[in-house]
Amino acid sequence: MNDDDGDGNPPGVGFGALLREDLRVHDGDWTVPGFRVLFVHRFGNWRMGVRSRVLRAPLSLLYRRMYRKVRNKYGIDLEFSTKVGRRVQIHHQSGIIINGYCEIGDDCILRQSVTMGIRSLDDMTGAPTLGRGVDVGAGAVILGRITVGDGAQIGANAVVLEDVPPGALAVGVPARIIERAAPPGAAIEP
Ligand SMILES: CC(C)(COP(=O)(O)OP(=O)(O)OC[C@H]1O[C@@H](n2cnc3c(N)ncnc32)[C@H](O)[C@@H]1OP(=O)(O)O)[C@@H](O)C(=O)NCCC(=O)NCCS
Repeated sequence: MNDDDGDGNPPGVGFGALLREDLRVHDGDWTVPGFRVLFVHRFGNWRMGVRSRVLRAPLSLLYRRMYRKVRNKYGIDLEFSTKVGRRVQIHHQSGIIINGYCEIGDDCILRQSVTMGIRSLDDMTGAPTLGRGVDVGAGAVILGRITVGDGAQIGANAVVLEDVPPGALAVGVPARIIERAAPPGAAIEP
């Protein structure tokens, strides 16, 4: 895990406002797995900001319980140590595995069966970073210490092993990069 002693939620927005944004981008439906998983993730970070160890202990127990529950029920593994930006959408569920060293920028979209993780046991902290507004297709696998630029699109079932420039497409196995101008919709909100 990255940082075990601080609130790793995005700066400049309170816990409640963050959850309201998450709910909005999940169509206002609190029952969808994506929103529930993000709720647990945000809670896991928020409780790290509770300085008193005595008060934090029961919150940590609750977090661990909820983390295991959503992981086992929905098949989405998102540890609190993963840096997750604002308004990130998780569309659908099952088989979504995000390493705790990954970073996901604001306004990204992840879909079912996406894996983001280390490429080799020789580099246990080498995980991908997504910029803002990255759209990741179903089944995509993004591996290693690489960066996917703002507004890039990762095709369904792509295996991405190298940096992807902003606005580019990455498709296929291993992914080939098709450069394009960054779409105006990338990084939707400040
Ligand atoms: C990658 C993607 C965004 C590209 O869409 P696009 O902008 O319309 O791009 P194009 O259709 O012009 O494709 C560009 C090239 O990539 C190829 N390509 C597109 N998607 C691909 C994929 N998933 N795997 C392999 N090649 C792909 C196209 O065949 C085309 O190849 P060419 O240049 O040799 O002709 C889209 O195809 C995709 O995979 N979206 C994922 C959506 C998803 O996961 N939906 C599930 C919802 S539940």
